[in-house]
Amino acid sequence: MKIITIVGARPQFIKAAAVSRMIQEFNRRSQTRLYEKKRIQEILVHTGQHYDYLMDKVFFEELELPRPDYHLGVGSGSHGRQTGVMIERIETVLQKEKPEVLMVYGDTNSTLSGALAAAKLNIPVAHVEAGLRSYNRTMPEEINRLLTDHLSAFLFCPTDQAVWNLLKEGIKDGRTKIVKNVGDVMYDSILYYSKIAEKKIPIFHGLNLINPQSVPPGRDNPQYYLATLHRAENTDDPKVLNSILKALNEIGRNTSVILPLHPRTKKMMKVHHLFSEFKNIKFIEPVSYLNMLKLEKNAEAILTDSGGVQKEAYWFKVPCLTLREETEWVETVKSGWNVLVGTGPKKIVQGLNVFGKGRPSKRGMGIFGDGRASGKIIQILMRSFS
Ligand code: UD1
Ligand code: UDP
Repeated sequence: MKIITIVGARPQFIKAAAVSRMIQEFNRRSQTRLYEKKRIQEILVHTGQHYDYLMDKVFFEELELPRPDYHLGVGSGSHGRQTGVMIERIETVLQKEKPEVLMVYGDTNSTLSGALAAAKLNIPVAHVEAGLRSYNRTMPEEINRLLTDHLSAFLFCPTDQAVWNLLKEGIKDGRTKIVKNVGDVMYDSILYYSKIAEKKIPIFHGLNLINPQSVPPGRDNPQYYLATLHRAENTDDPKVLNSILKALNEIGRNTSVILPLHPRTKKMMKVHHLFSEFKNIKFIEPVSYLNMLKLEKNAEAILTDSGGVQKEAYWFKVPCLTLREETEWVETVKSGWNVLVGTGPKKIVQGLNVFGKGRPSKRGMGIFGDGRASGKIIQILMRSFS
């Protein structure tokens, strides 16, 4: 079976790494059993949506992703231009390679472009992380998810809620579509890579945190909060950006706040001359996945607008404040590990008190599958194409 995998943005490298590893494992096992015909040929196509070393190559190196077979070099641009150029270049690859299926991940412009290019050529689309909805159509990601799901033949959902969301839109498992809750491939990733991350030297050593000497008993690192911020709706309006940074700066008076800066956020902070104002925030460059796992696991709490980071907080059992009014990862909120605090300084600062009386009970863990989502995806595809 020939699969074309489309990646382009940071979270997609992490998701695709889990499935790619499983494909390699599948091929190794097929070889030993002499099932030569049952090999999977994966062709990796990188759109070039993310391109800075710390947003791109570092993940290929650390996660041992195969080198892309095609790099489309699309880069940044407006939604229309970026998506349009991607579709055109992906189409050329599809016409040459003629895959049996095209696999896309998540909800970025690379996701939608891949799905559209393939659907127009009647190539079945497999969407990993299907069925997510924030029900906020002003988010570019919501448009990408909706359209990709409606174009897909294989809808690999991470949760029961996602299957239900699709059902409400008339997309259901049956003769023309396969809709399955396989679990979350990011959970596969975290289980595999957090063991490797454990062996790495702690990243905190170089960070010059407040009171590096005051390490709580039983811990080998200082206390800190971890923040990430990159959603267009939070960064592109200077009032909103300023409001969130004000809250993080306030929190940073007493306990360090570490913020690995996404390039979009860095660009907007430069444009609005915001760097000098927020002295209590420890801004750092984006970190590699293994370093990020370490930072997340040891944080007192995580403040974020990222989809992936909300889930990782949940899996590490670290309290999370989500800097948005809604989330597609509703299960993390229902379980008590995630609170939606929006973007106003008061609510963000007060949000930390929600967890003041201790951490939520462990009930509700396991909503995202059993860590074997990638294997299930491959099994379903092999069954359908053999
Ligand atoms: C994209 C996805 C978002 C995802 C995020 C993951 C879309 C619409 N958005 O948002 O869903 O959560 O990736 O991180 O697809 N830039 C650089 N270097 C890079 C990449 C980007 O400097 O390597 C800067 C450019 O100025 C660019 C801006 O960041 O214009 C935004 O990049 P873009 O890929 O359009 O969107 P993200 O905000 O990264
Ligand atoms: N991440 C990382 N380094 C960082 C910030 C995030 O490795 O500096 C990882 C994070 O652990 C998660 C993924 O990137 O696995 C989330 O990506 P992002 O927040 O960019 O996008 P989203 O999930 O919101 O689409």
